[in-house]
Amino acid sequence: MSRGVYAITGPNGSGKTTIAKLIMGINELTSGKIVFNGTDISRLPINERSNAGIVYGFQHPARFKGTTFRDLLSISLGSDDEEKLVDIISRVGVCSMDFLDKPVDSKLSGGEIKKIELATVIARNPKVAIYDEPDTGIDLWTIGPMVELLKREQKENNTTTIVVSHNKHSGGRRHPFAHQKRQNRLYRRSGRGDPHAGRFKRLYI
Ligand SMILES: Nc1ncnc2c1ncn2[C@@H]1O[C@H](COP(=O)(O)OP(=O)(O)OP(=O)(O)O)[C@@H](O)[C@H]1O
Ligand SMILES: [Mg+2]
Repeated sequence: MSRGVYAITGPNGSGKTTIAKLIMGINELTSGKIVFNGTDISRLPINERSNAGIVYGFQHPARFKGTTFRDLLSISLGSDDEEKLVDIISRVGVCSMDFLDKPVDSKLSGGEIKKIELATVIARNPKVAIYDEPDTGIDLWTIGPMVELLKREQKENNTTTIVVSHNKHSGGRRHPFAHQKRQNRLYRRSGRGDPHAGRFKRLYI
């Protein structure tokens, strides 16, 4: 995959999260290989893939009793500098400073935890950012700006941004770079103006 925004969509249980976890190294490959920047990373542990710039935002983020959003964000950012933290939370559309000191525990709402996950991925300044259903539980007022945010982050940092989503605004069938999971293969539907427009092209990642 070259740099840009990609969307992976497909039915429940078709393996979208599995692909994301394979790229991150959370799941182990049984066959095939994963090549990143010309290097086979199939056997690299998660921390080395992470150091190489691959970051995964979980579909179901973990909650940590006794840890605040500020703690998590500082770890992701590698700094607890207030100005930098504020810059990140304003980029993800969190206006309230109080939010920074919220505990990342079971009391957080489903949408709040997804926003926190999004912020921690962005704070890592990834080269490959994988967002697993970032729009799940997110209110209608936030979805549009979130899609814009991901596109802007991609452009500014020239990342490869992969979004797993069922939402047509984030990807879906109509998105020019939509990738569908069918018969255990990923297919790419080319955009308008492309000679393959309307046809599915097999895509290897
Ligand atoms: N660690 C695992 N061991 C065995 N089977 C697993 C494991 N993780 C996932 N699966 C199975 O693999 C299939 C694909 O799961 P996956 O979570 O990748 O689906 P998905 O496309 O992300 O679905 P959804 O849209 O519901 O999030 C499912 O049938 C799931 O039960
Ligand atoms: Mg999934």
